[in-house]
Amino acid sequence: MTRADIEALVEDDRVHRDLYLSEELFALEQRHFFANTWNFAGHASQLPNAGDFITVTIAGQPLLLVRQADGTVRALHNRCAHKGAQLATEACGNTGRFFRCPYHAWTYKLDGAPLATPLRAGYEGTRLAQCESGRGMEPVAGFAEYRDFLFVKLNPLGPDFEAYCGELLRVIDSLVDRSPAGKLNVAGGVLRSVVNCNWKMYLENINDTVHPVSTHESASATAARMWAGQPADAPKPMAIEQMLPFAEGYDFFDRMGGRVHPNGHSVLGTKFSIHSAYGQLGDYEAALRAAHGDARAEEVLTRAPQNAVIFPSLSIKCSPQAIRVIRPLAADRTLIEAWSFRVAGAPELLLQRAVTYNRLVFSPMSVVAHDDLHLFESMQRGLASGTNPWVSLHRDFRAEELAGGVREVNGTNELLMRNQFRAWLRFMTLDLPD
Ligand code: FES
Ligand SMILES: [Fe+2]
Repeated sequence: MTRADIEALVEDDRVHRDLYLSEELFALEQRHFFANTWNFAGHASQLPNAGDFITVTIAGQPLLLVRQADGTVRALHNRCAHKGAQLATEACGNTGRFFRCPYHAWTYKLDGAPLATPLRAGYEGTRLAQCESGRGMEPVAGFAEYRDFLFVKLNPLGPDFEAYCGELLRVIDSLVDRSPAGKLNVAGGVLRSVVNCNWKMYLENINDTVHPVSTHESASATAARMWAGQPADAPKPMAIEQMLPFAEGYDFFDRMGGRVHPNGHSVLGTKFSIHSAYGQLGDYEAALRAAHGDARAEEVLTRAPQNAVIFPSLSIKCSPQAIRVIRPLAADRTLIEAWSFRVAGAPELLLQRAVTYNRLVFSPMSVVAHDDLHLFESMQRGLASGTNPWVSLHRDFRAEELAGGVREVNGTNELLMRNQFRAWLRFMTLDLPD
């Protein structure tokens, strides 16, 4: 597949079905697109102590992140310099003061430098010390830590981390500043599900405000029926409070507003969101004002988008404090992780909201996600049918938007998705010859 073949798949207002269906394209995405973009790797609170590590696969490559004795975090390729065995195969753990390969017991310091090799004398007079295998574990080319959010980029090409994320870093600020102490900790475990669709289909849906009315009708109508007849001021159980807004109409979702940013990023719900009506907590507000000042506390409480996407791997909710991580596995398989945060210095209720929301809406036993998953699988099959190879992204298309940059739009504007595909094309072809 040449650069021109790839470029022909993304038009101004529609994209080709091969973007979702082609295994060949998926392999190219791993090598080029994912290696050329900054991807979320984990949260520093997963690694509280020296020797703590997490393993993660990005761009098809096994990596590990490990806390050093000096408190910093490093990202390394999870590959023994000898013959390639992985130094850690668990999702997380503590390796102690060094890594020891289970195959022939080569050892490495926490920063990946070689430590010891059995039968050392056998290497005297050989070229080992001068070659890649003598250098130890390979560092990941790009690693960035921003307010405990850890990102990697495998390919040294392309924008640095700050330039890549741009104003989306302010969303991370808003999330972290929900803590009067400026500290979040992952809590409540992680909910992992493998969905049978292309990763782009999932990511696109995060910005799809037209589907809840029809797709999630059974879930929201059930909540509405259960709550029917209650006085308007009756305090709602948490699940009812979280489910009812799914029934809002097209107008609500249109008015909530969205914003697109360079590099495929977006903020949905710039004016309000389905989470805006959650009850406020007096003591918590007072603690935020004391910690950050009135103006910043106000900003943090009101600027809580429904979904902010740091393309292509992270979706953030500021309230409830929850993130989704998107990990592609194959053209038609994607791992989704939903994480909740405990907010230091804030009532435990905030964590309960995040955990409840993740369980209700994003988990395998959710009453909402199965609606989406059914449709994702259905589209994955339906797209292969017939002579029309195109997926329509025409809604609210205007030629001016092709100039790029930051744009404020209505909440149902498919520019939120077109913007992702334009960035996909850019990073997919960044290292391809013309
Ligand atoms: S593969 Fe690791 S020591 Fe041989
Ligand atoms: Fe949905």
